[in-house]
Amino acid sequence: MSESKRLAAEKAIEYVENGMIVGVGTGSTVAYFIDALARIKDRVKGAVSSSEQSSERLRGHGIEVLDLNATGPLSLYVDGADECDPHKRLIKGGGAALTREKIIAEASEKFVCIIDPSKRVDVLGGFPLPVEVIPMARSLVAREILAGTGGQPVWRQNADGAAVVTDNGNWVLDIHNLSITDPVALEQTINAIPGVVCVGLFARRGADVVIVGGEPPLVL
Ligand code: 5RP
Repeated sequence: MSESKRLAAEKAIEYVENGMIVGVGTGSTVAYFIDALARIKDRVKGAVSSSEQSSERLRGHGIEVLDLNATGPLSLYVDGADECDPHKRLIKGGGAALTREKIIAEASEKFVCIIDPSKRVDVLGGFPLPVEVIPMARSLVAREILAGTGGQPVWRQNADGAAVVTDNGNWVLDIHNLSITDPVALEQTINAIPGVVCVGLFARRGADVVIVGGEPPLVL
C-alpha cells in the first residue's frame, strides 16, 4: 500500500507550479508528497501546513512554513483521505488534523487528493467519521449524534486511555456504523451541534482532483 501512496504523491508534484505557496495536508501519503516537494523546494515560495507533524517534516527539508493569514488564498492544496466516493467527497481526520485540513481546503482554488486504491468506496461511512469537539461538549455531542444519525460515537483515546488531543487542544469522536447517503446534509447537521469544531466530511467542498496511486496513477 505504501508504494501506491508514494506513486500518488509523486504524481501530485505535477500540479506544483513555479513560485507557488503549496497547501500541505497530513498523513503517511502526504509524507511522501513532502519528500517529493523537497526535491523541487527551490521552485516554491513555501507551504501552509495542516498539522504540527507536517510542519516538522517540511521544516526538516528546509521548506518554509507560512501562516495562512499572511498568505491569503492558495492555488493548490494536496492532502490524503481515509475514504473517497465517486463524487470526490471524502472522509478525513484519521490523523486528527481535520479542522486545519478543512480550513486549507476551503482557502484553496484546487484540492488535489492523493490516495491508495483501498480508499475508494461507493458510499462513505465504512471508515468511522471523525468529529473534533470542544472537550466539555464530548458527551453532549455524542448523545446528539447518536439520537440524530444512529451512528455510534467512540471517544478517540490513546492506548493508555488518555484522550487524543488535536493540534487545536480539542478531542475527537469517531462515529461508527454510518452509511452516508447524503454527505452534504450530514456535514451540515453535525456542524450545527454546539461544541462541534469540525466534522471530517469533506462533501460541500470535496476534492477537485483525485489521484489514485498505481502504475500508472489514475487521475479522476
Ligand atoms: C489526517 C487525514 C489523512 O489525510 C488521512 O487520515 C489519510 O492518511 P494516510 O495518508 O496516512 O492514509 O485526514 O487527518
